Amino acid sequence: MHLLITGGAGFIGSHFVRMTLSDYPGDRVTVLDKLTYAGNLRNLEDVADNPRYRFVHGDICDPTAVAGAMEGVDAVVNFAAETHVDRSLLDPASFIDTDVKGAYTLLEAVRQKPSVRFLQVSTDEVYGSIESGSFCETDRLSPSSPYSASKAGGEMMAMAYRKTHGVDIVITRGSNNYGPYQYPEKLIPLFITNALDDQPLPLYGDGGNVRDWIYVLDHCRGIDTALRKGESGGIYNVAGMNERDNRDITYRILALLGKDESLIRHVEDRPGHDRRYSIAADRLLSLGWAPRKSFEEGMAETVAWYRDRRDWWEPLKSGEHRTYYTAMYAKRLAEAEQR
Ligand code: NAD
Ligand code: DAU
Repeated sequence: MHLLITGGAGFIGSHFVRMTLSDYPGDRVTVLDKLTYAGNLRNLEDVADNPRYRFVHGDICDPTAVAGAMEGVDAVVNFAAETHVDRSLLDPASFIDTDVKGAYTLLEAVRQKPSVRFLQVSTDEVYGSIESGSFCETDRLSPSSPYSASKAGGEMMAMAYRKTHGVDIVITRGSNNYGPYQYPEKLIPLFITNALDDQPLPLYGDGGNVRDWIYVLDHCRGIDTALRKGESGGIYNVAGMNERDNRDITYRILALLGKDESLIRHVEDRPGHDRRYSIAADRLLSLGWAPRKSFEEGMAETVAWYRDRRDWWEPLKSGEHRTYYTAMYAKRLAEAEQR
């Protein structure tokens, strides 16, 4: 199989590329990536010389770039997106461009090639928050942020192209990923790298918000199962089955690094902050998938990776991230200091 992996230079996409090349020796991979602040060719250094891998620098909103990259492929796996909820509060337009118009541009190209399967990598955030129990795939979507609304828009576009044009689509809705190569703006890599430098950990609100954490490779294997075994038009939740509140995550990171809880700062909450995410993955489990990595093992490995790979994250934190971080946190951290 020849896969077009869009957003393959990002966190999850780069793991998916590596997994595909290693698990399927007959497969080829083309990556199409715009290399935004979150895209990084260093994430793909170890496969750069693989003859079954090709990189195309381009935007999924550009029909010409998409048509070129799609030459000869059997399936498209769309990871490309703006992905950080907090940034979607500062700059929603880029989210609507990539997450909705980008998905539409890819679907327009796929509909010219009836044998090509299109997998839209989506998120559990499209359901919104749930107080108790877990969402299943037939539940109503109720996104809370411009990020999750734009991801829901991408899904809707995929479903419409199936109904109207018969495109072979599959959708996955994954829970919160963690692991190596995650951009240091998301909770786990931000807190690990801040703690390594004895910098404050900005915990939103009371820290009681719950996420369902999944090791990145388990998510990739779930997407791969849906791609190869999922039914056309199928939607598959990819759950970590590992719900934790943000306080638990914070104390775990501090303990693994031998740091003190005085680094924690309770800052103003994220507007529209979803309290709890929870999804049931029975559909994917029935296809033979299950997460393999325990949270204890995955977190220990992840913390060790960031401790050993300053060469990877330090340049990211001193560049564009510094401007974003100042815009996002300077005021909130100063207020927290005053309290
Ligand atoms: P990321 O932010 O690390 O990477 C996104 C990648 O997409 C980058 O390489 C970036 O350069 C590329 N990109 C952005 N805009 C593009 C465009 N217009 N054209 C081409 N490339 C573009 O993201 P991630 O955390 O790896 O998430 C990947 C996908 O998985 C996203 O679709 C996201 O919504 C979904 N998802 C993420 C999580 C999570 O916890 N991180 C959970 C569930 C689903
Ligand atoms: O649920 C899947 C989603 O998980 C993906 O679709 C998104 O792309 C991904 O970014 C992630 O979204 P979250 O908003 O859940 O992830 P984030 O790491 O930004 O935040 C996790 C929790 O930690 C959330 O409750 C907010 C809180 N948080 C986050 C940051 C960055 C803090 O308390 N402090 C912080 O500095």
